[in-house]
Parts: sequence; C-alpha cells; structure tokens
Amino acid sequence: MSVNISTGVGTLCFATPFFNASGPLCTTLLELEDLGRSEACAILSKSCTVEPREGNPLPRYADFEGGSINSMGLPNLGYRVYMEMYPYLWRYDKPIISSVSGLSLKDTLLIVREMCGVDELDAIEINLSCPNVVGKPQVAYDFDQTREVLQEVGRICTKPWGVKLPPYFDFVHFEEMAKILNESGVSFVTCINSLGNGLVIDAERECVVIKPKGGFGGVGGRMIKPIGLSNVRKFRELLRSDISIIGVGGIVSGRDVFEYILAGADAVQIGTQLQQEGVSVFARLGRELREVMERKGYSSLGEFKGKLKML
Ligand code: DHB
Repeated sequence: MSVNISTGVGTLCFATPFFNASGPLCTTLLELEDLGRSEACAILSKSCTVEPREGNPLPRYADFEGGSINSMGLPNLGYRVYMEMYPYLWRYDKPIISSVSGLSLKDTLLIVREMCGVDELDAIEINLSCPNVVGKPQVAYDFDQTREVLQEVGRICTKPWGVKLPPYFDFVHFEEMAKILNESGVSFVTCINSLGNGLVIDAERECVVIKPKGGFGGVGGRMIKPIGLSNVRKFRELLRSDISIIGVGGIVSGRDVFEYILAGADAVQIGTQLQQEGVSVFARLGRELREVMERKGYSSLGEFKGKLKML
C-alpha cells in the first residue's frame, strides 16, 4: 500500500509533516543547509533579534532522563544575516520560515517589515514565548500585550504568519487566547514552546545543571508530550478551522507524530530529539510514521487528522 504523508500549513505545502523547532541546530548557515538536505519538510531559522546576541553563559543546555532543560538566551546572528541566508536556502526546494523574537514590539515590527521584502522567505513565526531572557516575561502569558502584538503585526505583514505559544494549563486561558487568535490574521499557531522555568538538579553534585538564572530554564523533550498534546487538542477545538496548528513537544517516534496529528496537528516540529539525534531524526520519523499508518490501514494524514476518539 502506498502511504502519503504530505500535508499543508495555511497555503504552504509540505512533503512530510515534520521539521525543526526553532532552537536546536538552526542558527548558522551550515546548520540550516543540513536541515535543507534532510527529510525535514521546511527550514525554520533560530528566533532572531535586531542585533546579534551571544546568549547566556555556558553551560546553558543539559539533557536529563525526561528530556532537556535550556536557558540559551536567544543567541542568534541578528535578523539581517538571516535575511541574507534565505536566498541560499532556496535551492533545497522547501518552505523557508523565519522565527522572529524582537525584544520589544517595535523591534518585532521592524524585523517583520524587512523580512516581508525577502522573496525567498515563505512565512514568519512570531515567537511570543521565549522564557529565557532576564527581565523579559513571556509575551503570550499577557493577553493584552498579545492582542496588541497580533494587531500590529497583522497590519504590516504581507506573508503568511503565525505565532509560537507557551503551554497553557487552564481552560479559561485557552479560551481567552483562542478568542484573540481568532480575531487576528494568523494562518498558523505553533504550540508548545518549552515549559518555562523548570529546574533540574544533579543530586550527586548537589548542584543545578545549567548556569543562567540560577539553574531555571525551559524544559523540553519526552516529559512535556502530554502538555503539547493537550494544547494542540484544545486549540483545535477552539480555533477557526482555517487556522493551521503545528504541534511541538516531546516527539521522539513516528507514533508520537501520529498522536499529534490525531489530536489535530497539521504538522509537527522536533526540538530536543533533533538536538540529541541530529538531522537524521527526520528520515527515521518518516519510516516510523509510515509503518504506523500501514499497520492501521491509513493512506493519508487526512484520514485520521483530528479524529481523536472519546471514551
Ligand atoms: C530561547 C528559548 C526559547 O524557548 C525560545 O522560544 C526562544 C529563545 C533561547 O533561550 O534562546
């Protein structure tokens, strides 16, 4: 049986449903070219700011048995360098997406305006959920600020755009955020970013495992999958049907991808597992997802997308 795993997000067509999360292995041109050559369906660049940033002091990333913790602090080359890279990435013949994380609304608008002038760029993901810059709370936990950012971006952005959200935990918050998103011009929503301000402890050394912010950092990987799934599911219930959902959080196997699509994701991103395994993760996920679908008799993602059953 032939199995088709192509999908779409807004007007973008994807050959497979998985690509990188903005974060691991997507900061330099070499890393972005590796993603281009891989079986990732798109290339998403590291969240950029107006000026280049070194990021937080090392060590700022650590693996633990449940996943990873990081407090990178937005190390990136500055938006001008990414604008120059996108034309080089065009040869890989897959959508190119820019993650934008201005340190203020003014910065975000400046970057978006400039990025819209780059023909080779296909879409913009506005990051409203970086937990690691000291003195900059996560925008998407402030609903008034989020509404303003979405209105202003909507006024100037001429490319398809979406937002990257932090995890929500209470239905009231899902409902309030969904209302704001439904009244905005987003064509996609990416959820979830890492769980902000977790703490991993090394009992032998009686010590934190990353240096910035007293050891507090964003938690990703295996242990956050139930939260990622719940956020995808809840937003699929609440968002307009023309808004696509990109799921992220704890995807390790093709079965995890299957679960996210069942919950309602149109595509998924891979963070911690990409960091740990490298870009070959995408070929493995493709094999595993096809195996799951063949075993269940599905020939396309649409046959089970969002069709999670209740008891
Ligand atoms: C960083 C972490 C994030 O979770 C994010 O969304 C953006 C940036 C960082 O620390 O670099």
